[in-house]
Amino acid sequence: MSRIVLGVTGGVAAYKAVMLASRLRQSGYDVDVVLTPAAEAFVTPLSFSAVTGRRAYTDRDLFAAEGPILHVALAQTDLVIVAPASADFLAKAAHGIAGDLLGTLLLAAAGKVLLCPAMEDDMWRHPATQRAVRQLRADGRTVLDPAAGHLASGRSGVGRLPEPEEILAQALRMLRAQTLGGARVLVTAGPTREYIDPVRFISNPSTGRMGIAVAEAARDAGAAVTLVLGPSELPAPQGIEVLDVTSAAEMYAAVESRFRDCDAFVATAAVADLRPRERLGRKIKKADLGMELPMERTTDILAWAGSVRTSRQVLVGFAAETGDVPAQARKKLMEKHCDMVVGNDIGEPGAGFAADTNRCLFVTGEGEQEVGPASKRQIGEEIIAFVAERLRGR
Ligand SMILES: Cc1cc2nc3c(=O)[nH]c(=O)nc-3n(C[C@H](O)[C@H](O)[C@H](O)COP(=O)(O)O)c2cc1C
Repeated sequence: MSRIVLGVTGGVAAYKAVMLASRLRQSGYDVDVVLTPAAEAFVTPLSFSAVTGRRAYTDRDLFAAEGPILHVALAQTDLVIVAPASADFLAKAAHGIAGDLLGTLLLAAAGKVLLCPAMEDDMWRHPATQRAVRQLRADGRTVLDPAAGHLASGRSGVGRLPEPEEILAQALRMLRAQTLGGARVLVTAGPTREYIDPVRFISNPSTGRMGIAVAEAARDAGAAVTLVLGPSELPAPQGIEVLDVTSAAEMYAAVESRFRDCDAFVATAAVADLRPRERLGRKIKKADLGMELPMERTTDILAWAGSVRTSRQVLVGFAAETGDVPAQARKKLMEKHCDMVVGNDIGEPGAGFAADTNRCLFVTGEGEQEVGPASKRQIGEEIIAFVAERLRGR
């Protein structure tokens, strides 16, 4: 059985950590809890040992005279979670300050680290906290964004500890097999907007949901992921570098800047094929609107990638079609030099734009395979499994 360390720091949300410890235990993990002195002002070690069936550690154990060196022994684990992570803890951890048991074991941690900040809105937004979070992320720690809502002060804002179920789901994702460990994956998602004037544009109903699901699946498989994201209402995924773009030209420029360094490129974005030849800087008056709009082609990003790719890179395209999906997907596979094209019939209910589910046809040089109906996340995982298999063979 795997062992997880749960660090608890001094914040109002410390009581939720008892629930989290219990859920981790129910999921089959041995949970070693470590409390800071401030955490002990909010919850007792007894609460944790009662739900984990194991001893909970406090700072008094750091300099124990007997047995193995505690912080080194505890650090030999696949995952350290700190929930709630106080502002004080984040600031110290960003500097590698090891003045207590939790700080010391964090420096010695052999596996992954998941930090779950919780504090008042002002403390979260403070430049010192944001600096610490940026540093921790740059050091490879996963830092969850706190949730918005009611705070202990009675005010509303961003700073709540995410619910234990959400932290548990993230922890389980981080513990999954790392089939893409060390790989760099580039993903495009969402629609593009081609502006006619400042208030009018040409676009499509893509939400970015499918591409975000692919990016998250790649992240959870251990890849360093860059997501080039067109205008989307969805929250930016955690632990992924997001490059926000608006037009097809901006998306192409972002992809071009990153393509050479990636091991795999998954192009899910619904990129406009045409844009107005001219974009006016001021709103066109209704009376001046003509019935025709001169258009020009945008750069075909997938075709460009196919023309410059190396044989070591893996290229996956999408074909959102109405009509003969298999034939269209096969054509795209050949013409754009892809390893796989994911075809889907956007005319079908429960597939294509905006839906939570999708039904796809995976078309490769070796054949075709129907996938789904399934959630976009599951389809994302299937795509990433294909990418991982191809990369292993190269
Ligand atoms: C009633 C009370 C509630 C607190 N809640 C929080 C909190 O939610 N988040 C936070 O970062 N600090 C909070 N603090 C401040 C921390 O407890 C304080 O910074 C402490 O030094 C943190 O120590 P630690 O990081 O070693 O656990 C709170 C303090 C008190 C007295």
